[in-house]
Parts: sequence; C-alpha cells; structure tokens
Amino acid sequence: MVDTQVKVQQKDWVIAGGKWKRSSDLPLHRSQSVEFSIDSLLESLHLSEDNLRDIMHRLDREMVKGLEAATNATAKVKMFPTYVRSIPDGSEHGSFLALDLGGSNFRVLLVDLLDGGVKLQSETFALSKDIMTGTGDQLFDYIAECLGNFKVKMGIKEKLPLGFTFSFPCSQKGLTSAFLVTWTKGFSASGVENKDVVVLLQQACTRKNVELDIVAVVNDTVGTLMSCAYTNPNCYIGMILGTGTNTCYMEELDNVELWDGDDKKPRQVIINMEWGAFGDDGVLDDVRTEFDKKTDELTPNKGKQLYEKMISGMYLGEITRQAMLKLADHKMLFQGKVSDKLNEPWKFETRFLSDIEGDTGESLTKVAEILKGLDVKYNQQDLHIVNLVCQAVSSRAAKLASAGVASVANKINRDKITVGIDGSLYKKHPKFHDHMVNFLEKLAPKKKVSFMLSEDGSGKGAALVAAVASRV
Ligand code: GLC
Repeated sequence: MVDTQVKVQQKDWVIAGGKWKRSSDLPLHRSQSVEFSIDSLLESLHLSEDNLRDIMHRLDREMVKGLEAATNATAKVKMFPTYVRSIPDGSEHGSFLALDLGGSNFRVLLVDLLDGGVKLQSETFALSKDIMTGTGDQLFDYIAECLGNFKVKMGIKEKLPLGFTFSFPCSQKGLTSAFLVTWTKGFSASGVENKDVVVLLQQACTRKNVELDIVAVVNDTVGTLMSCAYTNPNCYIGMILGTGTNTCYMEELDNVELWDGDDKKPRQVIINMEWGAFGDDGVLDDVRTEFDKKTDELTPNKGKQLYEKMISGMYLGEITRQAMLKLADHKMLFQGKVSDKLNEPWKFETRFLSDIEGDTGESLTKVAEILKGLDVKYNQQDLHIVNLVCQAVSSRAAKLASAGVASVANKINRDKITVGIDGSLYKKHPKFHDHMVNFLEKLAPKKKVSFMLSEDGSGKGAALVAAVASRV
C-alpha cells in the first residue's frame, strides 16, 4: 500500500481519492491514504461530464477576461484580435505565395486561386533543432533562403503578394504587423520575442537578396478558418490539433474592448484565442496530474501552455510514458523493468498512441511491436495496460479540447457551427474526431457543431487572407 497525499487546494473543485469534490466539502490539509493501483492511475486521468462543464465555465471566464480592457493585461488567454474581418466569398483570384512556420517543418507554397478551385504547389523544408533554438537571425535567414530557392525553382520572377502563417502567440498591430509575445512548441530562437516578425522577415530577405511583398501575417488557426469558410459559410471557428493546439473564432467588435481598428462593416474580427495558455494562472491545477507536471518540467517553457500540454501532439506521448514509468515503478507493468530507451524523455511518441488505438485486434500486435522497438520486455497483460493508459490520455485530451470548443460555440450567436480543423493529431488519431463529436453533443446540446477538415489550411488560408486583403 502506498500513501499518497491528497492535494487539497483552495479552489472550487479538487480531485480527491480519484473523485472530484467541492473543496469546501473537504477539510483543508487533510491527508488520506489511497492505494495506488492501475485503476487509481486511470481514474486520475478521468474527467466526468460535470468536470468538463466546470472547465467550460472557467474558460468562459478566461475569454471575457482576455476580451475586456480592464483585465486583458493579466489574462492568460490573450484573445488577440487578428485584423482579419472578412471571410472569403469564393470570388478571390490570383497567384499568391505563402510561408508556413509553426511546427516541425517549414513550408513555402505557391497558391493559385482559380475559378474552379485552388491549385497548390509547395515545398517542405526540415527545421533542425539548431534552427529552432538558435538565433532569430539564423531562423529568418533560413526562411528567406528557402523562399528564394523556391521562387527560382518555380520560375517566379514577379513580386507576388505573400501571406505569412506564423503560428505562435502574437500581438498584432495590423494585418502586416505581429509582435511575438512568447515562443511555444519547443521553439526558442533568441532575439525574436517582443519583435515584429514581419520586420524580421523583411530584414532577412534584404540580407539574402530575396524580393517579397508581405500583405498579411496570420496564425494557423486563422488560415484554417479561412480555408474552410471559402466553401462553407457556417464556418465560424478555426482549430488546430497538432504539435500544439489553439482556436480562433469570429467575434463581434462590440465585445472586443481593445479593438483599435476602424469601426466600419463588417463589425466583426477573428480572435486568435491562444487557448493553449489556459490554466497558466493555476485555474487547471486540480485537473493536472503528476504526469502532466513531469512532462512540463521537461519543456523549455515550464509552467506555460498548460492546457495545450494536456491536449496536443507534442506532449501526449510523454504523458503516457510518465504514467507507464510510475506503473513500472510500482511493479505493475513490465515486471518493474524499464528499458534504457523507454527511460529516455520523449521516446514514447504521440504517433504511438494513434497506432495503438487504431489496432482493434485482440492480440494487440501494434502495442507489442512498439514496445519491442523500445526494447521493453512485456507480457500479454502489459499490452492491455499500455493500451488502457493510451486510451485514458488521449480521451482526456479529446474531452478537454471538446470542452474548449463547446465554450467557444456557446459564445457564437448561431445554432449551426462548422469548426474548420487541421493538425497531425486530429488527422492521424483514429478516435479523436469521434470522441469530440460525442462529447460536443453532451456539452453543447443546443448547438449543431460539426468538424470540417481543412487540407493545407495554413498555407491556403494565408493566401486567402492575402487575397482578401489585396481585394479590400
Ligand atoms: C501553439 C501556438 C499557437 C498555434 C498553436 C497550433 O499553441 O502558440 O499560435 O496556433 O500552437 O499550432
């Protein structure tokens, strides 16, 4: 029997003994002996419908805090106005360049908006860890070089309008000005935070002798919303479930107290929520487990993006690995023996969760194959346990993401709402979509929410913003 100190906080709700209780129902500083078991571990990752409704209320409060002038400075969910106010109407035409920076790859695209649809030609460039974590000049010089090479390869001589998808939290001053607030998703290139990334890109292009005409800088969520809204008029939300997670939606100007742009019609603007930072002030501390905390400790942005770190692709594998290590530590998995590979942080990748949960066969051959690849010695029961842990981690992520979408959907004054969505986790995980549809029916019963996959959303969307901007 293992004694676990039950953490009691002065918050509305806490998890105690694997159950959620009102903190007022619990004496403070109480300690209780809870036997550690596979069940108790899975229970700590479980969120009930009531828990999710409670999380929705917390996010509702955070959104208002971010939108209101008096509270924005201290808000963690920043609700950045993007200056994108018009949705494409299908009449956009022309050739555009797009740059897409925000994940493990960097892409350059040539987007032709034609009568019959969109023609995309693109090239993907690897982003090494050295570039992601070196200096800002190195990063932007690399981007400029890739753009220059792409233009030569495609025979582009003219100065085409360019949309820059830069998927990090930015405070925008207009369509062509975006100050990076803080790096996320493992990036840390120096000298970029608090700078206008459009200026940095322009300077790099001057250094590298590459001509460019940036007409818009957008977040990937915005690109995703735009690319889906191009063909679906009910698309009011853009969402990414990939390396990171974030959402944007169309908000009425009257609700955006910090709006400093013009007041003309359409009286609306897309808000980049940067919801990954939800919880950074402690409002999700009672949801976070020791596995979340250990995962956070391994990141360069400790204590930040806490909601994102429970949901997105960069982290789910590591959370699962941490849970497996604890089980092994208690001799409940792998007979207590962990291989060197499994002992290494980040070695259990999120794609393993997708593979494992996609394997519905009785013999669990996928789990076995993955464990073998990590030099782990297992028995049949271990395979079942690993499977259960993967399911618990990913279904918690899908529930948390659904609670977020439900809150945003409730904020939008429409019954029928399409969420334009993109990202590797959403595309590759076999159950994420179904989980979200299922939870949303429960959490937002009055809304008809559906998801629309945006293929190449960030690139196409950036071109569409560029097109709308050129048209306006
Ligand atoms: C991170 C970034 C955000 C982006 C999201 C998805 O949360 O801060 O800007 O939209 O990842 O890529």
